[in-house]
Amino acid sequence: MNMNESEVREYVKKKYGEAARRTGGGGCCGPAGQAGAADPITRDLYAGEQAAEVPAEALAASLGCGNPTALATLHPGETVLDLGSGGGIDVLLSARRVGPTGKAYGLDMTPEMLELARANQRRAGVANAEFLQGTIEAIPLPDASVDVVISNCVINLSTDKARVLREAFRVLKPGGRFAVSDVVLKRRLPEAAERSLRLWTGCVSGALVEDEYRRLLSEAGFTGVEVQPTRVYGAQDIAELLGGGGSCCGVATKVHGVDPQAYAGVVFSAFVRATKPR
Ligand SMILES: C[S@@+](CC[C@H](N)C(=O)[O-])C[C@H]1O[C@@H](n2cnc3c(N)ncnc32)[C@H](O)[C@@H]1O
Repeated sequence: MNMNESEVREYVKKKYGEAARRTGGGGCCGPAGQAGAADPITRDLYAGEQAAEVPAEALAASLGCGNPTALATLHPGETVLDLGSGGGIDVLLSARRVGPTGKAYGLDMTPEMLELARANQRRAGVANAEFLQGTIEAIPLPDASVDVVISNCVINLSTDKARVLREAFRVLKPGGRFAVSDVVLKRRLPEAAERSLRLWTGCVSGALVEDEYRRLLSEAGFTGVEVQPTRVYGAQDIAELLGGGGSCCGVATKVHGVDPQAYAGVVFSAFVRATKPR
């Protein structure tokens, strides 16, 4: 990426601050980082039973691309950390899974998101959760203090993913699990798309190519790396993500240099898991 890193981070913070202020968030991971109705990435992530466990406001503020707590197998008494916790939905679900002897931390850099998450925690009446302000590139927790690191559509937003993965490794206990939902690419997008700040905040252009994700996890020290696709985006989805349509007479057109037909199946949401060796 040729974009200035602090410029990207400030833009991400601004966009997610705006999303938090619109009550209920509304599709920021999605059509070119815009607010709006749920998009191909964020819609229908939580099944009825889970949705009923959290306040409606937490569900409405969900901006993820998967459902890490449904896939992560959390145990009572465990400590969970959610990287980029947003409105708090996965922290509240984790807190319920680990029970009163466990703890769920949410970490986010955007003050408005932390405010929203803490309000949702109060609404939910959950005591064993705590929301921390900070960046996922410098996690404000001690070494070997967490059993499970989860995250939902946030690592793609970081300008230093290798550092995020090293930090996740550092805070995990030996044997700890990395269990993350994220957008992943089969191959790189055209340069014009990679340079788009709007596509970056929309969780598309910052996404790692699968092989690089695996390599960075291994370099951080993780073993047992798995990338399991959970939702693969077709041409119509790609057109919608790129700019809310981009279709003429049913034929998706080029946006940001991306021909949606040529990129069908290239962008996907995945459950990415790995283990810190004992
Ligand atoms: C796409 S939203 C996902 C929120 C939440 N995980 C969910 O599923 O609803 C991204 C969140 O990550 C936060 N974020 C993005 N980059 C971050 C970074 N480098 N450090 C900390 N938080 C970050 C944003 O403030 C925002 O709340």
